[in-house]
Amino acid sequence: KPHAMILGTGRALPEKILTNADLEKIVATSDSWIFERTGIRERRVAEPGVPLSVLAVGAARAALEDAGIAATEIDLIVLGTVTGDMKFPATACLVQEQLGATNAAAFDISAACSGFLYGLQIAAALMASAGYRHALVIGGEVLTSMVNWEDRDTCVLFGDGAGAVVLGPSDGRRGLVHGVLGSNGAFSQLLYNPGCGSLNPPTVANVAEKLHTIRMEGREVFRHAVTSMTTALQRALDEAGLTAGDLDLLIPHQANMRIIEAVTKRFGVVTEKVYVNVERYGNTSAASIPIALDEALRGGRIKSGDTVGLVTFGAGFTWAAAILRF
Ligand code: ACO
Repeated sequence: KPHAMILGTGRALPEKILTNADLEKIVATSDSWIFERTGIRERRVAEPGVPLSVLAVGAARAALEDAGIAATEIDLIVLGTVTGDMKFPATACLVQEQLGATNAAAFDISAACSGFLYGLQIAAALMASAGYRHALVIGGEVLTSMVNWEDRDTCVLFGDGAGAVVLGPSDGRRGLVHGVLGSNGAFSQLLYNPGCGSLNPPTVANVAEKLHTIRMEGREVFRHAVTSMTTALQRALDEAGLTAGDLDLLIPHQANMRIIEAVTKRFGVVTEKVYVNVERYGNTSAASIPIALDEALRGGRIKSGDTVGLVTFGAGFTWAAAILRF
């Protein structure tokens, strides 16, 4: 039986659009290369000086309004991100202050693209075990703040944004039916940002070497993403006593159209039952699933009684899947 259900959702995207044609002017690439390899046409970019908290608060306000819940009724704020405003304090605390959510405990989760699904399951577990009643779970990134704009292998992939959900007590039928989490640190150096931390502090020399930007072995990441997302979703379905055929909608992490196609093909899920918006936003990491979930709900793609699968993969490596009933 679910303990927590979604009462409302919201999203916030920067207005500025960076198209593939814009990127052609920055690095040696082309719209056709990017679209064929990734399915991405454009992505949103936060203006300089606009930190994650601005997007996270925008998404949270929309979710609170959708849920009809006051900020003071929130007793838990969990924010999945790897691009917080500062090293510390947690951006969740800055969000708490800006929302006036004065009764909430607030903290960030670092699980890269899996940050939202990690946060969702942690919040639901705290609601089940520790008496929290209304949780705000946010996934948000300003990934363009750590992109190396001279590296065509990576700079074409990422975008900025935030999505949020308000969780409340389940009515016993709707909500988070089941979730799984996983990670494998053996592959940490296939996708990472080596600078900014205690290993390579942001000294002038380290910044000159661009250690503070994203490093990625694209092919290896692709291979692991397909395998881990497939395993995670299968495990979540098995443990919930469901099959892929029971899903009314699947929302995979929006990293790359070819990863989405490879995963969904293995489950035999038809295209109409897979939510895709990667062409408009690129890979927004922890924000991708809550943004897609908000679009799917507001766009009428999810109806009352529907079973929805969520699945993701990211740096760490981390992965996660969840089954929700609406
Ligand atoms: N424009 C044009 N050419 C490019 C570009 C670009 N932007 N980037 C790389 N190339 C070139 C390479 O230099 C290479 O040229 P070469 O053959 O002369 O050496 C050629 O294209 C092929 O490069 P590959 O890296 O082998 O291309 P691939 O087909 O693997 O596609 C990609 C690269 C899109 C990065 C793919 O590996 C991928 O999607 N990987 C997953 C990465 C990902 O999604 N990461 C996000 C974080 S994890 C997550 O969210 C799941």
